[in-house]
Amino acid sequence: MRGSFLAAGIAVATLLVIRTAFAGVPDGGPDSRMLSAENPPSMAVKLLKALSHENEIDESRIEKLRNLIRDNLSDNAVQRMVAEILLDENVSDPLRVAVLESIAGANLRKTPESWREPLATCLDSERTEVLAAACRAVKNLGVDWFDSRLLKIGAHCCTATVARVEALDAVADRAGEIDPPTFLLLQSQLYEQVPIAARLKGAEILARAPLSRDQVLKLAHEIQSDNPATAGPLIWPVLLPVFKRANDLDVGLSLVEALKKSPGIENIPRDALDEVISRYPARVQENLEPLLASVDQRSRSNRELLDRAASLIQEGNRKRGKEIFFSETTACYLCHRVGEKGGQIGPDLSHIGRRLSDRDLLGSVLFPNDRIREGYETLSITTKRGTRYRGIPLGETGGFVDLAVPAGNEIRVDRNNLREKSLEEVSLMPRGLEATMPEEGLGDLVAFLKTLK
Ligand code: HEC
Repeated sequence: MRGSFLAAGIAVATLLVIRTAFAGVPDGGPDSRMLSAENPPSMAVKLLKALSHENEIDESRIEKLRNLIRDNLSDNAVQRMVAEILLDENVSDPLRVAVLESIAGANLRKTPESWREPLATCLDSERTEVLAAACRAVKNLGVDWFDSRLLKIGAHCCTATVARVEALDAVADRAGEIDPPTFLLLQSQLYEQVPIAARLKGAEILARAPLSRDQVLKLAHEIQSDNPATAGPLIWPVLLPVFKRANDLDVGLSLVEALKKSPGIENIPRDALDEVISRYPARVQENLEPLLASVDQRSRSNRELLDRAASLIQEGNRKRGKEIFFSETTACYLCHRVGEKGGQIGPDLSHIGRRLSDRDLLGSVLFPNDRIREGYETLSITTKRGTRYRGIPLGETGGFVDLAVPAGNEIRVDRNNLREKSLEEVSLMPRGLEATMPEEGLGDLVAFLKTLK
């Protein structure tokens, strides 16, 4: 099971973090004092103090610092130090961003009032990374202190797109309405050329934003193959709740049309689809039926394809297969690593050609739910505030539950802050990815997987 290193216990882990974070600092410097300190929170405070005067902090130390602060954020002294750092003009941007990221990763139950001014200062920053990280922190805290400011950032055309999107993410649940420039920005996040992780985030925001009926209709029109927006298997399940915001025939028929033209309906749980479609007039359901029938038919012929796995692989072009793997449309790379590239949500596939037979390689792509790799079951958790995460469990220690989610980050939730937690029988790997590939693409892709030895 991945993440078992966490079992070492939080105190020991923290001590290791401090030791490594301070490797290279001379003897008698802050590290020796730090290591003799009594508890992790006071270590965290001292570490922050020491780093606040440094201009350059390398990436590996930042990473460790981020985790140390995150795990001790409920301590008063750490909270005071965090406020000081965020307000201090002389602190380097990477440190400020690291502190904001710790807040964003912490899932704190209660936000200290003393953070209001420091966070406001960061939201005024002209540095994109600081601004974006501040928005992520505010989102995670769930405070409504800066709602009008966040909406302004989201609508501001001169601000960098990443920061605008993060600002909207932080306020979407409480926004009164979405103005036209903001809607255009969110819609453009679904364009094919946008990297998959950003598209996923765009869809998540759209699903929570209070779109008008006309905006929902526009979106459905946009998600059709001759337009630049697309949904796809990863996006559809996330985006579908958007269509709960309308119930008339026009929107319903456009939704069915969008589902026809943008692949991925396989990956929408049937009950979720039924729930949305049942809101619309009966004709919408009638229009959907042939589409569902063709999906079932496709699934049956894919089953038959398994018997021909070996010849499919033999005829496949592995170079093209590699391109498909790393493309933004099929985007296997979002969750899988091959060599140095790719995400770490699913298993590392660098040597998958050694482990799986031809049939199993093809089966893994076409029917992810048939065989779920041990240690990679889907964990679904809901926090007391109602935020839901679906990801791969990374371990549970020191009162925390950790999981990796496809949008690209690791989430840590305090056990006291959990409302629900369950393992699903459905793989986190989407179904229907074969429908995003060009013709012959499936054989090419599996031929590529087979070369990974
Ligand atoms: C959203 C994340 C995600 C995406 C995208 C994704 N996968 Fe997966 N994949 C997983 C997870 C999680 C598992 C482990 C659970 C399981 O076995 O179903 C997995 C399992 C696999 C396995 C079996 C590995 C083993 O060790 O048994 C293969 C092969 C695979 N994926 C290939 C692909 C290919 C090829 C693509 C692109 C067409 C892809 N995956 C896209 C998440 C993903």
